[in-house]
Amino acid sequence: MSKAIILIGFMGAGKTTVGRELSKKLGVSMTDTDWEIEKKAGISINEIFATKGEEEFRRLETKLLEELRFDNYNGVIATGGGMPLREENRKLLGKIGRIYYLKTDEEKIFARISENKDRPLINTENPRERVHKLFEERADIYEEAGHVIIDGGESPKAVAEAILKDYKKWVKQK
Ligand code: S3P
Repeated sequence: MSKAIILIGFMGAGKTTVGRELSKKLGVSMTDTDWEIEKKAGISINEIFATKGEEEFRRLETKLLEELRFDNYNGVIATGGGMPLREENRKLLGKIGRIYYLKTDEEKIFARISENKDRPLINTENPRERVHKLFEERADIYEEAGHVIIDGGESPKAVAEAILKDYKKWVKQK
């Protein structure tokens, strides 16, 4: 069975940065589901949303998890913010490893992501309002999907340490 470290949470929660930190500390590889999808599709996430739509992007996310599941992947996986939305994805994630929800408050998230144009979901007239709405829709889903809830407001190093503390115990029990 795979024993990956899986990071979930809202865009801008620090999944990729913390993932890099963890991969360095553990000496294992790291991947980000957005990168994998872009590599396979040969176009950016923005382009996928613009030309094929969000539904197609969600389908690609599920397809990627199915592939990872059979790969016996034991590294670190940073997921796109919407990955846990589909129930089948939550089930697949649980089969791939231990799921950590990097919980961060709305204000901090907005401050981190508002300058960035790479996130099609908030490329709207009122991104602040959009973030608020997404928060309302998703907060409970993240809480439920995470095996462990981690305070994502700390520095990436501290967040990685907190995850490692739990992960090492979990791996021993496996
Ligand atoms: C999304 C988050 C993005 C990316 C896509 C959709 C979402 O990933 O997958 O833009 O639905 O929250 P990050 O969380 O890495 O920004």
